[in-house]
Amino acid sequence: MRLEWNETLSVGNTMIDNQHKELINRINALVEAMSKGKGKEEVSKVVDFLGSYIIKHFTSEEALMQRFNYPEVAAHKREHTAFVEDFKKFKAEFQKTGTSSMLAIRAQKWLSTWLFNHISKVDRMLASFLKKSA
Ligand SMILES: [Fe+2]
Repeated sequence: MRLEWNETLSVGNTMIDNQHKELINRINALVEAMSKGKGKEEVSKVVDFLGSYIIKHFTSEEALMQRFNYPEVAAHKREHTAFVEDFKKFKAEFQKTGTSSMLAIRAQKWLSTWLFNHISKVDRMLASFLKKSA
């Protein structure tokens, strides 16, 4: 199932919401490239395209946490770090085995579940803190 951004995913912070939309676009691009059986070189570019945006997005959220002295910064950062580690493992597996429909299905399930849970809990908590601090 394709991941779609909708209002229920909104955390109420425009910058964070926009970045989540872009993240979802890039996840969908990856899943599409993988399930269409595109070549390893081409899929590899989409993996990196997503990977670099993940870092950019986490970095900007973490900068906001720092700037506003967010008390939950450590726990939130831990979730980011764990995800970056998992993404590295996924990338390594892809480099080893290449693309397959099974890996595409797994990646989609994992990425969409992670993002949904992360947005619904910790990002929402951060956004409501930012709203109060503004
Ligand atoms: Fe986050």
